[in-house]
Amino acid sequence: MLLHPKELERGFLITFEGNEGVGKSTQSRLLAEKLGQEGYDVVLTREPGGTKGAEELRNILLFGEAEFSSCSEILLHMAARLDHVEKMIKPALAEGKVVICDRFHDSTIAYQVYGACFRDAKAMELVTFLRHFIHCEADLTFWLDMELKAAFQRVQTRGGKTDQYEGQGQVFHERVRTGFAELARTEPGRMIRIDASSSEKDVQEQIYRKVKVLLSHKMA
Ligand code: TMP
Repeated sequence: MLLHPKELERGFLITFEGNEGVGKSTQSRLLAEKLGQEGYDVVLTREPGGTKGAEELRNILLFGEAEFSSCSEILLHMAARLDHVEKMIKPALAEGKVVICDRFHDSTIAYQVYGACFRDAKAMELVTFLRHFIHCEADLTFWLDMELKAAFQRVQTRGGKTDQYEGQGQVFHERVRTGFAELARTEPGRMIRIDASSSEKDVQEQIYRKVKVLLSHKMA
């Protein structure tokens, strides 16, 4: 049975992860709309971003001219996250809202630790330390995954300004994908792989079914 919105004692944090072009933003929005129609109080947000300061950091990280050293880039992503978590996510969860976030901790591990730092132990240590400090974890994460070639084609069709991560080569993005795969392997209870090459509707239904299970477990 689906937990009624009024019975939520504490909210849920649902995150979407994956490489560019896999449909995360669309699926986050579709889920937010669906739960909103059912009467849940939903907050749809994204990372890096979500608060004024974090959106400013997003601009610097994605479109700025400066190049940061690997660990300072991690610090900037984590600074954006801390602001977002403290000002928006934690207050919303405390009010029993369902927070849907397009990217979260897993992106930092996949992009910075695996993609940029070749799984460097120091980089991983830094992320792990800051993750503990931020002290906010997703209840459920959807890793939208598909062959990168098809995902790249989607990005190209979408058009728009290319950000610094989209501009990285295929090898970088393969490492990022490996990072997500490793995270899903080590945390199977939280992180669920969804085949993003299926139709938009099919992906949406798969996600919705899992969310329903999560909400009904909360009732048990
Ligand atoms: P997006 O809105 O298209 O997902 O763009 C955000 C970009 O930022 C994407 O390329 C992934 C990257 N990113 C990181 O590298 N590390 C992070 O921690 C987060 C949240 C995003």
